[in-house]
Amino acid sequence: MLFQKKAAEQSRVLPAHIGIIMDGNGRWAKKRGLPRSAGHRAGAGNFRTITRYASQIGVKYLTVYAFSTENWRRPQEEVGALMTLFRQYLEEALRDFMDENIRVRFIGDVSRFPEELRELIREVEEASAPKTGMVLNLAMNYGGRAEIARAAQLLASDVKAGKVREEEVDEKIFSGYLYTAGQPDPDLIIRPSGEERLSNFLLWQSAYAEFVYFDILWPDFRPRDLERAISIYSSRKRRFGGV
Ligand code: IPE
Ligand code: IPE
Ligand code: MG
Repeated sequence: MLFQKKAAEQSRVLPAHIGIIMDGNGRWAKKRGLPRSAGHRAGAGNFRTITRYASQIGVKYLTVYAFSTENWRRPQEEVGALMTLFRQYLEEALRDFMDENIRVRFIGDVSRFPEELRELIREVEEASAPKTGMVLNLAMNYGGRAEIARAAQLLASDVKAGKVREEEVDEKIFSGYLYTAGQPDPDLIIRPSGEERLSNFLLWQSAYAEFVYFDILWPDFRPRDLERAISIYSSRKRRFGGV
């Protein structure tokens, strides 16, 4: 038993790119008789903890799903509370992640956010651009389908302008028009909360990602759960269609 555990530890394979669907804030709050916004606050705090931990153990790319293109369907009050939280956390992130050498990028259509938030997004991206450590992709107003449609539009316009020839369009060229251009595809996608679905997260990029679902609500997700996911990932055999 002990030997097996040791062997498993020795063969820990660190994914280069991890995606996390930060789900379960609302249920976490409900369980405690608190408003949903309290769950989002706890979730945002945990986002900092897990991001810092991932950077410290040497993950190269971390993509976190913070707000989907479908999340606008929520009551205005909840969307408003989320916008306030994003502002607070981006301000803190400015200070925090700087010390950690983390480069923050935003994926999604941020043009729909309030101007104050967009200004902060610009500041964070600019200030962290020279950082050389982990790349943190914050998926905000992100949807996999919207991302693919946008890529098709950009590509079509480049074809029209004669920058790309129609015949040369392939998977590699197409990938270059996604928000994640130049980054490796996610190796591991983790979803806490008990739901087992992608909910429009990284549709193109997840073609060969390993999925790990946990029955834990996001605010309760600890660094040891990330380690657990990495250990499950390490035990999987990826074949990419081969044998
Ligand atoms: C995830 O938690 C946060 C966002 C989608 C912004 P939820 O708010 O979806 O929490 P549940 O799924 O209702 O518990
Ligand atoms: C996915 O969670 C989006 C984020 C975590 C940001 P949702 O709670 O929106 O997903 P569904 O509605 O359960 O599929
Ligand atoms: Mg949810």
